[in-house]
Amino acid sequence: MTPDLITRYAAPVPRYTSYPTAPHFHEGINAGVYHHWLEALPDDATLSLYAHVPYCDTLCWFCGCNTKITRQYEPVHSYLEALDAEMATIARYVARRATVRHIHWGGGSPTILSAADLSRLIDAMHRRFNLAEDLEFAVEIDPRGLDRARIDALAEAGLTRVSIGVQDFDAKVQAGINRIQTVNETRAVIDAFRDHGVASLNIDAIYGLPGQHEAELIYTLTEVVRMRPDRIALFGYAHVPWMKRHQAMIREADLPDVVERHNLAELAAAFLVDNGYARIGIDHFARPHDALAVAAREGRLRRNFQGYTVDRADALIGHRGRR
Ligand SMILES: C[S@@+](CC[C@H](N)C(=O)[O-])C[C@H]1O[C@@H](n2cnc3c(N)ncnc32)[C@H](O)[C@@H]1O
Ligand code: SF4
Repeated sequence: MTPDLITRYAAPVPRYTSYPTAPHFHEGINAGVYHHWLEALPDDATLSLYAHVPYCDTLCWFCGCNTKITRQYEPVHSYLEALDAEMATIARYVARRATVRHIHWGGGSPTILSAADLSRLIDAMHRRFNLAEDLEFAVEIDPRGLDRARIDALAEAGLTRVSIGVQDFDAKVQAGINRIQTVNETRAVIDAFRDHGVASLNIDAIYGLPGQHEAELIYTLTEVVRMRPDRIALFGYAHVPWMKRHQAMIREADLPDVVERHNLAELAAAFLVDNGYARIGIDHFARPHDALAVAAREGRLRRNFQGYTVDRADALIGHRGRR
């Protein structure tokens, strides 16, 4: 694409996670409508459950997620109680008639939960819902400081896929986004999950970060590829300081312009394809054996709130997290 065309069509749009995108959500979908939808699910419905943990212990300046920084555990604890009450309400409507095939915990950082609470949360899901024997259970993991007890708790909970947040491995880029995370600690966490037999690995990275040029991006992706993830999500940095005020910590002058940003995205895609990854839609990559790549080849790919998916459940039930 020519620089001219890129500039002409470069307009900021909501981060593409779902359709309709988040700014189109409205109060018209109230409790009554939601109850009606839940009750209308057929008896043999298949479900996906999404639990959001909207807390982190440090703030990454690029972060566009629904999260709040806390150094105390009390808000997390109260939140878990509210989540449990929410699950009880939902279970009243879908009871044990529907089968849950997928569970995803995202955030924020689900790994802010204590090991005991990680176990409690999965136990509560088992108690309240009918989980499939071959359940797919994925959790978003911030590997920084993740201890053995939490890794063990997640593995024992039946985790089938870890999704590790990397973003960028270059030290200068990391300083510019307030996210210091070494290659070694990231690899150690991945190895620990693999030792536990967790078979599937996704890694999240971002292009378009401040001070990130071709060399930094390729360095990051080289290290990522060495970790042999089955899937890679490579998001374009969404800079929306009017919505996420902390992003003002990032100087706009340090961000790539639209042409460089486009070139970075294409360079990264070519690099990943050269390294054996199939390009899936706009921001995902997968090794050819991975279910995502197979579904893409066979025209069965779907998109839900967690990105591209092979999930064919009748309904994805989540909750909006903290207001
Ligand atoms: C909830 S976070 C992942 C889990 C964990 N909190 C972590 O950071 O490791 C989900 C992913 O969203 C992506 N993300 C967050 N803010 C973003 C932004 N402003 N633009 C693009 N991607 C972003 C990051 O790649 C991040 O790994
Ligand atoms: S990127 Fe992840 S760890 Fe960083 S603030 Fe956002 S949700 Fe928390």
